[in-house]
Amino acid sequence: QTTFEYRQGQLHAEDLPLADLARQYGTPLYVYSQTAIERQFDAYKEGLGDHPGLICYAVKANSNLAVLDALARRGAGFDIVSLGELERVLAAGGDPAKVVFSGVAKQADEMRRALDVGIHCFNIESEGELERLNQVAGEMGRVANISIRVNPDVDAQTHPYISTGLKQNKFGIAIEEAPRVYRHAASLPHIAVVGVDFHIGSQILKSEPFEDATDRVLALVDELADQGIRLKHVDIGGGLGVRYQEGEVEPDVRAYVRAVAAHLKQRNLELILEPGRSIVANAGVLLTRVEYLKYNGDHAFAILDAGMNDQIRPALYQAWMDVQAVRPHEDGTEAAWDLVGPICETGDFLAKERRLNLKPDDLLAVMSAGAYGFVMASNYNSRNRPAEVMVAGNRSQVVRRRETLDDQITLESRLS
Ligand code: LLP
Repeated sequence: QTTFEYRQGQLHAEDLPLADLARQYGTPLYVYSQTAIERQFDAYKEGLGDHPGLICYAVKANSNLAVLDALARRGAGFDIVSLGELERVLAAGGDPAKVVFSGVAKQADEMRRALDVGIHCFNIESEGELERLNQVAGEMGRVANISIRVNPDVDAQTHPYISTGLKQNKFGIAIEEAPRVYRHAASLPHIAVVGVDFHIGSQILKSEPFEDATDRVLALVDELADQGIRLKHVDIGGGLGVRYQEGEVEPDVRAYVRAVAAHLKQRNLELILEPGRSIVANAGVLLTRVEYLKYNGDHAFAILDAGMNDQIRPALYQAWMDVQAVRPHEDGTEAAWDLVGPICETGDFLAKERRLNLKPDDLLAVMSAGAYGFVMASNYNSRNRPAEVMVAGNRSQVVRRRETLDDQITLESRLS
């Protein structure tokens, strides 16, 4: 890991001191490393080796155009879940023929646009959706490629909120139901059945749950082949989890992709992956400044200029995110601080009981914030969403300017 490291006593993003970026662009600020994003994507490509397949970056993890552009240039495909994400991919120069469309609630206009630009595949989540797509494609005189999202019902061993492959989730259809739904799909005139997909959860740190799910789905592939329905690809959903804490082992992306691909050996099946978090999480930090230090009783609070509106993962999932001092002090002592934001909610914290040596005005970096960070930010308490900066080597560029109050108010009006 050389992306965010200390040099001459201060934390850098690649070759640039984070303190300089804070001075130049203000805080709170999301800072991304293009090199780190490219390196992670390349790990997926290398893991795939010469096995036929496609790495479709999950746009939801970080949909900034500069991120999508960097990945498109390296040949990435994209996993989208909305018309908005599709338009972002197109605006960033992504290839629509490498797009897979996930999500439970696809609307007719979203289907129309996706068919119009010629996406690779629709990942179907229900029979209602299948029928709507057949209808829309028919009206356009097109045939839509589809995969059906099945629930392999494996325990992904992750947080319940981000575990998605179990029977009780809203996603996909039960694997036992799948043969019947596939036969239905195969009978529809404007549908071409090309694949099967699943998504068992996010922040999964081992390849075993993915391998188990793949085996269950391969049994389905064989059953369908016996009935004359021959699939071309298996899409195993999201990527691996990432290391959030020092001391945790960094999951090995290459080994993971190789392990899953090995299950498809000797079969004429493409492998599609939809990694999001593992491409961008450790390629980004959220820079924030200490506004005030205060004690309530013996509880020590560091009040920051970033809160749950900028970074909601700790509040929403009790996610543990590492926080580092940008310029650690040589004098003074450590205390256990709760790092809280400006929002009027008790749940507004970024970290609790962190041993840090803090002074007012200090800069802190919330680490591993490149995935599900800015994309989940809101204007709660009428706070402007932060700016985003991309770093490559010793260059930095604003890739999304800081919002202004005018941006926030412009969509609203008083009664006339
Ligand atoms: N494909 C599908 C169908 C998905 O639902 C997801 C994530 C992905 C791919 C990407 O998975 P990844 O490679 O990032 O694990 N906001 C939560 C994570 C929600 C993930 C939802 N689905 C968090 O901050 O932890």
